[in-house]
Amino acid sequence: MSFQEQIHDVAQLACVELFTPKFEESFWFFHDVLGMTPTEDDGKSCYLRGYEDRYHHSLKLTRSDKAGIGMVGWRASSPQALERRVAAIEASGKPGKWVEGNKGYGKAYEFTTPDGHKQHLFWDVEYYKAPEELKSKLLSRAQKRPLRGVPVRRLDHVNLLCSDVTKNGQFLMDNLGFLKRENVVFGGQDELAAWFSVSPLVHEVAFTKDQAGPGNRLHHVAFWYGNQGQMLDLADILQEYDVTIEAGPAKHGVSQAYFMYVYEPGGNRIELFGDTGYLIFDPDWKTLTWDESNFFNGGGVWFGGELPQDFFVYGTPIVEAAMAEAEAKDEVAEPAE
Ligand SMILES: [Fe+2]
Repeated sequence: MSFQEQIHDVAQLACVELFTPKFEESFWFFHDVLGMTPTEDDGKSCYLRGYEDRYHHSLKLTRSDKAGIGMVGWRASSPQALERRVAAIEASGKPGKWVEGNKGYGKAYEFTTPDGHKQHLFWDVEYYKAPEELKSKLLSRAQKRPLRGVPVRRLDHVNLLCSDVTKNGQFLMDNLGFLKRENVVFGGQDELAAWFSVSPLVHEVAFTKDQAGPGNRLHHVAFWYGNQGQMLDLADILQEYDVTIEAGPAKHGVSQAYFMYVYEPGGNRIELFGDTGYLIFDPDWKTLTWDESNFFNGGGVWFGGELPQDFFVYGTPIVEAAMAEAEAKDEVAEPAE
């Protein structure tokens, strides 16, 4: 396996945009249950953030006729790093364009994955400034921990459903400097899922083969607690208020994540990430490949129950007919963490 030098031009996952056909209910979920703080609402979108998210927002919640993901936003490591990555994308044969006027960050380069997932890459950001009553005594905390629900600390990662995991992942590796940390390949065939990062985290983005739709969809967005106890507490609240828990709390073998998957009222799958999984500091990390011999022996779920069939076929926007067809088949391979 060849060595890929880390280039660190992309610093972090900064924000995501989610579409919801049930805005008020979705807002209740993110604001009241996950304790996120709104910074602005322009009538079309509401901008929210976890209490340790440092920028204007980490979630742009947009009123829409269907659920799904609108955009994934990445912060570059410097203005020069942004220019280098834009040059790489433009040379790739799949160029994007510069866009302005986005709330919370300055000029951004807009491009898509091969599947069509919209991405923004930018340097200039607007930092969140807590009003006096929300200022934390902890200097490292962007605001006081909210009193609502079980508040998440920050955005963690996004998992995108796509038609070709290898093709989409390679685009991020070639043009943005992502490294492939783990993947799933059954029978020596196509990759069914792969996890990529630009930092010691196991992933900021994952691609999963879309088995029930055309690709260019969302599997899930994950927010971070860093403490699985808080996830257990959240599970108790979700049961109380009739929010669907799809799977967990439990632990994946892939990424070693303590997870819980829920459907926010608008239909998007949201993951709560209870710990950090593990961190990677080895610059010569080799992709870890799970196959049918080990994936079902701890890879998918290390402990804590099963992943239901819907986990492998449900995504947003929902493709009803294709999902029913996929569920009717005996063998639907593969998940996503
Ligand atoms: Fe995940």
